[in-house]
Amino acid sequence: MNEAVTKQYTMLRDKQIIVGVTGGIAAYKVAELVRILAKKGANVHVVMTKNAMEFVTPLTFQTLSGNPVTHEMFELLAGSKIGHIALSDLADQLVIAPATANIIGKIAGGIADDFLSTMVMATRVPVLFVPAMNTKMWESGIVQGNIDRLRENGYEFIEPDTGDLACGWEGKGRMPSLEEIIEKMEDIFTVKDLVGERIMVTAGPTQEFIDPVRCMTNRSSGKMGYALVKIAHRRGAEVILVTGRTDLPRPSGVEVVEVVTANEMRNAVMERQAKCTVIIKAAAVADFRSKALRYHKLKKKPGEEEVVLELDRNPDILQELGRVIEDRILVGFAAETENLIQNAQDKLKRKNLDLVVANDVTKQGIGFGSDDNEVTIISAHGRAKHVPKLSKEEVAHVILDAVKRVIKKKRKYKDDWY
Ligand code: PMT
Repeated sequence: MNEAVTKQYTMLRDKQIIVGVTGGIAAYKVAELVRILAKKGANVHVVMTKNAMEFVTPLTFQTLSGNPVTHEMFELLAGSKIGHIALSDLADQLVIAPATANIIGKIAGGIADDFLSTMVMATRVPVLFVPAMNTKMWESGIVQGNIDRLRENGYEFIEPDTGDLACGWEGKGRMPSLEEIIEKMEDIFTVKDLVGERIMVTAGPTQEFIDPVRCMTNRSSGKMGYALVKIAHRRGAEVILVTGRTDLPRPSGVEVVEVVTANEMRNAVMERQAKCTVIIKAAAVADFRSKALRYHKLKKKPGEEEVVLELDRNPDILQELGRVIEDRILVGFAAETENLIQNAQDKLKRKNLDLVVANDVTKQGIGFGSDDNEVTIISAHGRAKHVPKLSKEEVAHVILDAVKRVIKKKRKYKDDWY
């Protein structure tokens, strides 16, 4: 199952990716892109234009991809290692990085005069352009017109970043980060099966202040919740993230609500819950807060060996949601240190959940703070699915698949009823 799940959700694994490199200074960054793609299990074939070879040698790309690099059209046709199999037939996706104004103009104008432009013209698979150029070139009406024309014809683009450019200018034109490029490539492969859903995810820890400098919190990094946000968004859902304090970069394309305490999280969630079709509570919420509100730092008193902190119960947000959820979908997590399944099932019933994700937080390498997780997803109908140790993004896919099944069941029942 581990291998099967990984294959299913690791979008780039076993994919044939063609990286077209054109002549821009950002070509050196593409060496790292090729390395990462190969590490993610993609079979990468690099095609270089003549100008690209002024910046980086084919040997660099050949070493990193493990495949011969194509730059001479007729050399290939004469029978290179991949023989007569046309690269464009082999490809699952083509990415052109950096994409110069020249290659954009050529493709928009229907010119096919070298291997890369010929292949782009011949392919039926998605083509992603990653433009990088001088700001004035980027802003030129001709380049923008060419981009519009290509977009109209179904070509994909990532906007360049703004910053210092190699030519000494500052402005828009830098090649976007490799993370952004890979995210977009994975996005292109992802089936948009959550379009129409509005999903709220809570993530990270809450903090409860004891005095102005001390607080009670927990080890949640937010990674599990943020992975759910990323994958739900990538699968086409409209997403609201309610997040406690974390060091993670805020995801783009989603509504982000920042909170600190459990009470703030409760208010943020309850204000927005009515407009959501699915709510997933991955946050680690403090059950208690300090009874006293102190405006000054708690001081040690001479001779005092013990301090007793009085605590109040925090609202149980999940339980409150369970009372208003009706025919929408509610998913809770259960972070347990003992009796994993039993305790998770209790929470499922008590809090009126559709699904509970049972997380053994005593195991090393999963749960709090780690990049991976291993969980058991239990449904209100008593079905349990063990998800072996996988990356949190892969676990997020499996959870969202389970959510999809619940949506289907609940909506079918509703349709049958009326
Ligand atoms: O953030 P990471 O480092 O990636 O770690 C992930 C995780 C371990 C935090 C995550 O996988 C997880 O298990 N989240 C739930 C943590 C938790 O608080 O579990 P719990 O069993 O105490 O609470 C059960 C459920 O009730 C949770 O959905 C929780 O969000 C919710 N709850 C709890 C208390 C409270 N006052 N209000 C709540 O809504």
